[in-house]
Amino acid sequence: MDLKQITHADNVRLSDDGRAVRILDQSRLPNETVYLELSRAEDLYEAIATLRVRGAPAIGIFAAYAMYVLTLQSPADQYSTFVEDCQKIHAYLNASRPTAVNLRHMLDRMLAVAESMPCMDVLSIQDAMKQAALAIHQEDIAMCTAISEYGLSLVKPGDGILTHCNAGPLATSRYGTGLGPLFLAKERGIPLRAFCDETRPLLQGARLTTYELQRAGIDCTLICDNMASLVMKEGKINACFVGCDRVARNGDTANKIGTSGVAILAKYYGIPFYVLGPSSTIDFTCPDGDHIPIELREGEEIKEKFFSQPSALPDVKCYNPAFDVTDHSLITAIVTEKGICYPPFEENLAKLFSRQRKGGD
Ligand code: MRU
Repeated sequence: MDLKQITHADNVRLSDDGRAVRILDQSRLPNETVYLELSRAEDLYEAIATLRVRGAPAIGIFAAYAMYVLTLQSPADQYSTFVEDCQKIHAYLNASRPTAVNLRHMLDRMLAVAESMPCMDVLSIQDAMKQAALAIHQEDIAMCTAISEYGLSLVKPGDGILTHCNAGPLATSRYGTGLGPLFLAKERGIPLRAFCDETRPLLQGARLTTYELQRAGIDCTLICDNMASLVMKEGKINACFVGCDRVARNGDTANKIGTSGVAILAKYYGIPFYVLGPSSTIDFTCPDGDHIPIELREGEEIKEKFFSQPSALPDVKCYNPAFDVTDHSLITAIVTEKGICYPPFEENLAKLFSRQRKGGD
């Protein structure tokens, strides 16, 4: 398999006729490669809620295209009614998942385009929204590329990297974030070894991360989540690279459930723990991790989803939080497209992004 086929995965884009969003259905991987073209509001919402499209940056890109596609269906021919429709679409899509802040950020950006064009005709506003969605996608490619470069500078040839969940091309665009340094290293002939947590309960590590790395010819080994401590103790891990769904102002970071446990283990074994993510994942309006909404999902995902027979009694109570928050004190550095941010995060994130924040969060 050509490495470029993985790093340039056609995971989210506008359909050829420009009236639907085309995605590679991640919920069917690795066993089936199914592309969907979605244009109905309920189908677009469902695609996010059921993780057909997933990973914070990919959700943001998808939401921007989805909002544009839905505005094409608005019957409004006046500015005021069109903007009202845009506001309804924003509220509807924004309710599909709560934790990844990219969803809200990209919907806000799309709505701001419409709201900034009073007195313009609907066709012109729709065109501006299309351009905004395409720009969001292009910017993500550039951010992921920069993050991968910075991430690669943190490791040396032969290093073992522990990953959790999936933060590769499927979850973003181009190289990915948490997996970006591994793809870039492969491109440059630098050997790295990945140990991939399977990531219970939805198995993004097993189903998606090893799917991407293995097909790209990168040395990867799948482990159960509860084996991370052992591989660290055995000296196989030199650094942990994870993605993020929302970084609070003080550096507390929400990512896939189990991430905070990896960070605690890394601290114990003296292994650097890096969070890699674009500025679209930083929420400067959120003071700390206690203010990050954590998605709760159905117990069926724990009991049945990936088993040929249920693994527990049907009526057993389940608790299924989809994310947890890693305390900033456990994070060695946050790797962004603007550079590598070390503690104190509140101060250094603000410095790194000061120009951007003057123009709004
Ligand atoms: O529930 P998911 O699969 O959308 O969770 C995704 C993660 O936790 C990723 O690590 C995160 O979104 C970063 S993707 C670059």
